[in-house]
Amino acid sequence: MPGSDILNIFPIGSNVTSNGHLSISNIDIAELATERGTPLYIFDENTIRTTAKRFKKAFSDRYSDVQIVYACKAWSNVAILQILAEEGLGFDVVSGEEISTVEAAELNLDKTFFHGNNKSRSELLQAVVAGVGRIVVDNSYELDLLEEVLQETNRTQEILFRVSPGVDPHTHQKTTTGVLDSKFGIPIETGEAEKIIVKAMESDHIIPKGLHFHLGSPIFELSPYKKAIEIAFDFASKMKQAHGFIMEEFSPGGGFASKYLVSDQVPDPEVYADTICNQIRDLCVSLDLELPKLSIEPGRSIISRAGIAVYRTGVIKEIPGIRTYVSVDGGMGDNIRPAIYDSKYEAALITRMGEEETKIVTISGKYCESGDILVKDYNLPAPHPNELLAIPASGAYSLAMASNYNSSRKPEAVLLKEGAFRVIRRRETIEDILKFDVV
Ligand SMILES: Cc1ncc(COP(=O)(O)O)c(C=O)c1O
Repeated sequence: MPGSDILNIFPIGSNVTSNGHLSISNIDIAELATERGTPLYIFDENTIRTTAKRFKKAFSDRYSDVQIVYACKAWSNVAILQILAEEGLGFDVVSGEEISTVEAAELNLDKTFFHGNNKSRSELLQAVVAGVGRIVVDNSYELDLLEEVLQETNRTQEILFRVSPGVDPHTHQKTTTGVLDSKFGIPIETGEAEKIIVKAMESDHIIPKGLHFHLGSPIFELSPYKKAIEIAFDFASKMKQAHGFIMEEFSPGGGFASKYLVSDQVPDPEVYADTICNQIRDLCVSLDLELPKLSIEPGRSIISRAGIAVYRTGVIKEIPGIRTYVSVDGGMGDNIRPAIYDSKYEAALITRMGEEETKIVTISGKYCESGDILVKDYNLPAPHPNELLAIPASGAYSLAMASNYNSSRKPEAVLLKEGAFRVIRRRETIEDILKFDVV
């Protein structure tokens, strides 16, 4: 039962007005949602900046050379990227289209890291020509494609190797990436990582700068980071001795958890930073390695709390003795996480904040799937049709994974700043939906 604690998972500066309405940045969210329509995604600029600053400070207080890189896949919107660039963040991109988004935001690409397990030749060419700072090479086939592209264009490119350390971060199986049985990364354990390093070091065009791994997401434990860093640094030391490979740069990826539920126990950025930076320093001493330049790639933990989704309730279906379904005007089309990862969220009726919770309901979407459930068996003040319901901590991997299922239109997103709002993504129209059909 979240009670008033629920405000702690809404954006910073969330409050309840005297008439029981949710407000963020002094804006009455019910009034805003009524004006703009639902489903509506609302992002708070202050929360984004504050969180980015906190990550930056946590790591740079503990490590001299560190770059925070926002994982765009969590949500890549031009306005958001511009704000994060102002805060000094770089970008982790995973497609040619995300490279184009960074370009559309008119940002320099030198702090951009290009990831992906199956980058195409044309994406690699796009990245090289655009001047992407680092290509994070995921496999040997990609290294060969990159070599061809660089020879043809007569360019050089600095790269990191995404290694697979074989460490289980104990998160959802579908979001686990750093184990041996994964499509991502070059396994250390099979000898593949050594082979690719040797091959890259022979190239005149490829400049190996260091190692990267990403274990999965969200990771609530600290020990997987410690273990995986130990494996990566031990490997780096062996590669130095065997081949003269110098790990000038290192990244333990992202995956830092953020609170979806009031009861979630999430390490603070400072705690992640302590663990990662101390482990790197200790290993550099024991293995006689130079301290590498560090980059980290938070996505979810930067944007999740900053965003909320607001829906309008519709049909309420009571099945006596079984369940009450409260359907809303969005669902898996704008947030597929509960359906594919079994993700859990809290919810609030935003014109009745603080009212006693008297009814356990299941909040279902409007899409034509039984699995289209946003929140299961949740205690609320008994909801009525046609009222506003918000789901906090909706900023990450919701709109980013939105679809047009059932020919639905993706929602509008607005950004709040100092008591005002601006639209940062317009609601799709039926013309948007139909324009790709060729008759
Ligand atoms: C390589 C890489 N870095 C960073 C991230 C971001 O993870 P999170 O949003 O959990 O911080 C991901 C997520 O898939 C990733 O694949």
